[in-house]
Amino acid sequence: MARPKIALIGAGQIGGTLAHLAAVKELGDVVMFDIAEGTPQGKSLDIAESGPAAKFDGSFKGTNDYADIAGADVCIVTAGVPRKPGMSRDDLLGINLKVMKSVGEGIAAHAPNAFVICITNPLDAMVWALREFSGLPHNMVCGMAGVLDSARFRHFLAEEFDVSMRDVTAFVLGGHGDTMVPLTRYSTVAGIPLPDLVQMGWTSQEKLDAIVQRTRDGGAEIVGLLKTGSAFYAPATSGIEMAEAYLKDQKRLLPCAAYVDGAYGLNGFYVGVPTIIGAGGIERVVEIKMNKDEQAMFDKSVDAVKGLVEACKGIDDSLS
Ligand code: APR
Repeated sequence: MARPKIALIGAGQIGGTLAHLAAVKELGDVVMFDIAEGTPQGKSLDIAESGPAAKFDGSFKGTNDYADIAGADVCIVTAGVPRKPGMSRDDLLGINLKVMKSVGEGIAAHAPNAFVICITNPLDAMVWALREFSGLPHNMVCGMAGVLDSARFRHFLAEEFDVSMRDVTAFVLGGHGDTMVPLTRYSTVAGIPLPDLVQMGWTSQEKLDAIVQRTRDGGAEIVGLLKTGSAFYAPATSGIEMAEAYLKDQKRLLPCAAYVDGAYGLNGFYVGVPTIIGAGGIERVVEIKMNKDEQAMFDKSVDAVKGLVEACKGIDDSLS
C-alpha cells in the first residue's frame, strides 16, 4: 500500500519540527508548502539527508506551489506569524486571518479529502475561519490546542509529584488562551484524581492552583524565554499525535478544538472539547459533566472565542 501523504502548510519552526517527527515516526511521505522560497525545499532536503543515519524511509518535498499537496491525506497548518514577547495570541488575528483564507482555498482546491489540523493562532478562531474558507466537512477540520495544553499540565504535575509523565493524565478544555479550563477533577495520577492527591498530602491546593495558572500561561512562558518566536517542539509533537490517531484509526480520546453542534449547549461552534479521533476524523465529541465552577469557566472561555469569531467577521465580509 502506498504511504500516506502528509502536507504541512507552513515550513517555519513548527512546520519543520512536524516534518522531522513525521519522518522519524515513518507516518508517510511529507510535502512542505510555504510562501518563503527555499525554506520548505531546504528543510525537506535536510530531513531527507538525515534518513540514512536515523534509518527511516519516505519522500520529502518542499514546494511553493499548492498543486504539490494534491491528494494529501492529512494537512497540518502552521502558516502565519507567531507572537513576540508582550503579544497575546489574539494580537495575531488580523494577519493570520488573511493567511487562513489563502490556505483554506489551497486545501479546498487540491486536498479536499484531507483531515486538516490547524495550529495557527489564535487557534479557535483560526480553525473556524479555515473551515469556513475551505468548505470541508466539519468533522475533517479541527485545531490542535488541548493536547498541548494538557501535555504542559501533565509535565508540571509529573514534576511536582516526581512520577512518570506516562502515569499522569490531564484534561484541559475551552479556548486556547488565557481562559482555558484545566479540569483538576478529571486529571489523575494512574487514575487517582488530583483533589484526592491533595487530600493524600502529595501536594497542597496552593501548589495545584499555581500549576493550573502556569499551564494557562504555558505558551507565554516560552515566548518570554525565546524572545524571537513561540513554542514549537511541544506544539509539533501534539499535532503529530492527532495526525497519527487519524492515520492509524486509533480512536484516541484527545482534547482538541472541534466543531460542537448540540453538546455543551453550543450550536455550531469551534472550541476545545474532548473528542474521539479515528479514521472518520473527529468521530465524536465527548460531553463530560461539569460542576458549576467548571461550567462558569468554560462559558467564559466560550465567550472569549465568540468575541474573536465576531472580530473575524468584522474583518472579512465573506465570513458573516
Ligand atoms: N502561506 C503559507 N505559509 C505562510 C503564509 C502563507 N500565506 N504566511 C506565512 N507563512 C509561513 C512563513 O513563511 C513561515 O515559514 O508560515 C511560517 C510560520 O513559521 P514561524 O514564523 O516559524 O512560526 P511557528 O513558530 O511555526 O508558528 C506558526 O503556529 O502556534 C502557532 O502562534 C503560532 O501562529 C503561529 C503558528
